[in-house]
Amino acid sequence: MKTSEFIAKKAVKNIEYVSFTWQTPSNIALVKYWGKTNPQIPKNASISFTLNNCHTITTIDFKRKHNAEIVSESDKSVAFNLFFEGKKKEEFKPKIAEFFKRIQAYCPYIFDYEMTIKSENSFPHSSGIASSASGLSAIAMCLMSLEKQLHSDLSEEFINKKASFLARLGSGSASRSIEGPLVVWGKHAAVEESSDLFGVKFPYKVAPVFNNYQDAILLVDKGEKQVSSTVGHNLMNNHPYADARFKDANENLEKMATILQKGDLKAFVSLVESEALTLHAMMMASSPYFILMKPNTLKIINKIWEYRAENDSNICFTLDAGANVHVLYPENEKKSVNTFIEKELAVFCQNKQYILDNAGLGAIEK
Ligand code: PMV
Repeated sequence: MKTSEFIAKKAVKNIEYVSFTWQTPSNIALVKYWGKTNPQIPKNASISFTLNNCHTITTIDFKRKHNAEIVSESDKSVAFNLFFEGKKKEEFKPKIAEFFKRIQAYCPYIFDYEMTIKSENSFPHSSGIASSASGLSAIAMCLMSLEKQLHSDLSEEFINKKASFLARLGSGSASRSIEGPLVVWGKHAAVEESSDLFGVKFPYKVAPVFNNYQDAILLVDKGEKQVSSTVGHNLMNNHPYADARFKDANENLEKMATILQKGDLKAFVSLVESEALTLHAMMMASSPYFILMKPNTLKIINKIWEYRAENDSNICFTLDAGANVHVLYPENEKKSVNTFIEKELAVFCQNKQYILDNAGLGAIEK
């Protein structure tokens, strides 16, 4: 699909007031996206598990502006109020205003409405869990619900594609939060229909061992990120290892596609961990360099390796752009690994906090 196909046509209906609520999840990448060109085009393809329990619920009330028709082109602005967990949040507005600016050409109807956005996360705010993926995908789904009412002939397939396309313009990884349980974003010859513009569901049959895969998120450091992902992505420009990394990541995506279909857990474990460490190695080798792992991140990783060796387990870890550890394991190890986490890993988390999650199916209308 071309970018121009996402430009909404003129509305066929007038709607005065309408409200939609969507729940959309966070996701965890197995093969990571790190490095992009404008406008949010990834330097390599990535694949993630969509999560289930870590999600955002967002309601948008759309109230039609009076005299919207007579506002001149130059006076146009997007009008919205923002509430997060019941409180008005002026400090979150610039990011959302920037998002609306990036998508306005594709959703010109947003100028016709005054929007009240009410949002809450299922996970603690500033837990170090990126809320941009779930937050922006939820807004994108609410906009698509409005677009569907204004146009009435949109297919579900188009709605999901365009929601992913819009969410991507806010935060790249958000494009992978519309569907599940496995989503690929970035054009890759090994994945049919894959695109740089939006995420697609992994289109091949996955081995049963990857069904309902478990992800325990260990909250090692809940502080503000030292380096925003925007800055991090930009540091991949002029990075000495960038070209090798993008090539390696695309090769890893192809390997991962085979692993998922064959059910090769040993290969899965080593590829997922290698991807996580390579992402952090890129950060350590950039200029300026930075380290997002904390001492407890490494303690947890070593404990996981010990546990895996001693129990012939297929537990593994991955990392986002932060210190928290995502512990991944097949459903048949849930009982034993959950006990291990509670007994041996929780001590390394802030206030012993962790979240048990599993692969989910994506956006749900509420
Ligand atoms: O979506 P962004 O721009 O916040 O980038 C996220 C990048 C990683 O989480 C580190 C990797 C990924 O693919 O999700």
